[in-house]
Amino acid sequence: MGQLQRIATVGHVTEMTDHIPLIGGRDGEAVSHVGIWILQGRLTKMAAPAPPAPRSQARAQPPPHGATPITVARRTMRNRPPTSVFLTIEGIDGAGKSSHLESIRAHFVERGRTVVMTREPGGTTLAETLRTLILRDPMDPLTEVLLIFAARRDHLTQVIEPALARGDVVICDRFTDSTFAYQGHGRQFDLSVLATLEHWVQNAVRPDLTLWFDLSPQVAAQRLAGARAPDRFEAEQLAFFDRVRAGYAERAAAEPGRFRRIDASATREETAALVQATLAAWDSSRLRHGTRPDVD
Ligand SMILES: Nc1ncnc2c1ncn2[C@@H]1O[C@H](COP(=O)(O)OP(=O)(O)OP(=O)(O)O)[C@@H](O)[C@H]1O
Ligand SMILES: [Mg+2]
Repeated sequence: MGQLQRIATVGHVTEMTDHIPLIGGRDGEAVSHVGIWILQGRLTKMAAPAPPAPRSQARAQPPPHGATPITVARRTMRNRPPTSVFLTIEGIDGAGKSSHLESIRAHFVERGRTVVMTREPGGTTLAETLRTLILRDPMDPLTEVLLIFAARRDHLTQVIEPALARGDVVICDRFTDSTFAYQGHGRQFDLSVLATLEHWVQNAVRPDLTLWFDLSPQVAAQRLAGARAPDRFEAEQLAFFDRVRAGYAERAAAEPGRFRRIDASATREETAALVQATLAAWDSSRLRHGTRPDVD
């Protein structure tokens, strides 16, 4: 830990200071290695002899030349406390996500958990400013994607990662599945570019559980009609939302361990009951499998 504290004091690798608290405690060896990597890459004059590698890491590859903070962040989030939960809520506009946020929060609060409620795009001052632009101003698809991921990066480093590092529950109204569904499938933006950006921006941070509120675009549009002035996405045609819904279906099929489909066509009360039952079942499966069964 001493090396990391020195790095924090120097403050040269500003971005790293966000991640330092995530590393402490459970994996002292990893902490030392991280420190040495940074020292080699950025702070050579402060370099200290590396401690002997523990047996479990004896065959680990040496860090690549110029290892970046992003590399380090990937390692640290794999070591986040097992109590942490990253839950995301997804679905097309009007599916009912926001209507159930409070009861999802209550599920965890009743179990004594500290819960951070947040949303995307947004969640920080900068990201909320970007949200306003993204939802309002016409722009080309690549600009839109880059702004979304820029907002996500700020949100991750300022809010999500610190909360997960504390072992809290993070409930996020929309996350990267929205980007794949809306920009990828809805706007037909290159999915492989999105996957690259996801990896680059998020490293190993992925939701543990995603509640997908699934509703036909026709019913969603009826529910939204007159509810508020449509933003750039809500103003899209039904065909766009058909593609977005198909995108969610594809992602849910690819990751059945993470996704839980919520049939959102029922009444509010029935849907709320389904959400609670789904969370209870997930809790049980989590207990049975240890923690975070779907994260490596
Ligand atoms: N089960 C339901 N039956 C009928 N109307 C509903 C139901 N659930 C939510 N609504 C209404 O549908 C509208 C959209 O719901 P909500 O705002 O929760 O959707 P959302 O998924 O958060 O949408 P967005 O993605 O645009 O934020 C709201 O007016 C809400 O009151
Ligand atoms: Mg909403």
